[in-house]
Amino acid sequence: MFAIISDIHSNLEALTAVLRDIEKRRIKTIYCLGDVLGYGPNPIECLDLIIKKTKWCILGNHDYAVLYEPTNFNFGAEQACFWTREILETQKDTKSNHNRWTFLGGLPMLRSIKMTFNTKPITFDFAHASPRRPINEYIFPDDVYSNPTKIRTLFDKVKNICFVGHTHMPGVFLDEPDFYLPEELSNTYPILENERAIINIGSVGQPRDRDNRASYVYVEDNKAHFVRLEYDYKTTMKKIIAQDRLDDFHAERLKEGR
Ligand SMILES: [Fe+2]
Repeated sequence: MFAIISDIHSNLEALTAVLRDIEKRRIKTIYCLGDVLGYGPNPIECLDLIIKKTKWCILGNHDYAVLYEPTNFNFGAEQACFWTREILETQKDTKSNHNRWTFLGGLPMLRSIKMTFNTKPITFDFAHASPRRPINEYIFPDDVYSNPTKIRTLFDKVKNICFVGHTHMPGVFLDEPDFYLPEELSNTYPILENERAIINIGSVGQPRDRDNRASYVYVEDNKAHFVRLEYDYKTTMKKIIAQDRLDDFHAERLKEGR
């Protein structure tokens, strides 16, 4: 049994709500698909929790942007990235701050694990964005209709199951190609050894599917379970509004889930 979280975006209220829920389910193993940073008001606290609570984390485009440089970011996202970098750079020169930079600098782009389900081996791949361009490629539900070749060729890189985040829109892509929202699956996708799927787990700290609740996935009994959780987004909004360098739009969107 393991939980997968992604796209926290420095939202401490959402992250603590999700971690509490994971603990309640007695899930001990947590994997993170990146974008711990960016947009939100609590980068240090979120980074420390991710370092402490997850087994491993992979690199998201916003983590990359804070470490190196933002690519194709809009003005607000870019400003949030520079503000986040400044916060990290102006922390006291302690062992924990050294650990933060070491952690960020060491994030891999892809991870894989192999497990046995019903005596059959299953490979789980993990990427922030997509299995072929792990940091930056968006896989949107509409691509199934507007660009089916894109989805089919993405599946060339998928052995069984690939978990992704990045679009902040949870759901399951099949290689037909097809896309299912979590609610169309009663929030549960059964993992079958003869079916390939790209599973988007949604975003903890900035959902964009018009549902403002934090999103994550856990895997138990050969099934991927989609979870949505209410959290105190009003507090996060207030913190963003109070910070001049963070665009108020990043507060508004938390209320609306967009
Ligand atoms: Fe993200």
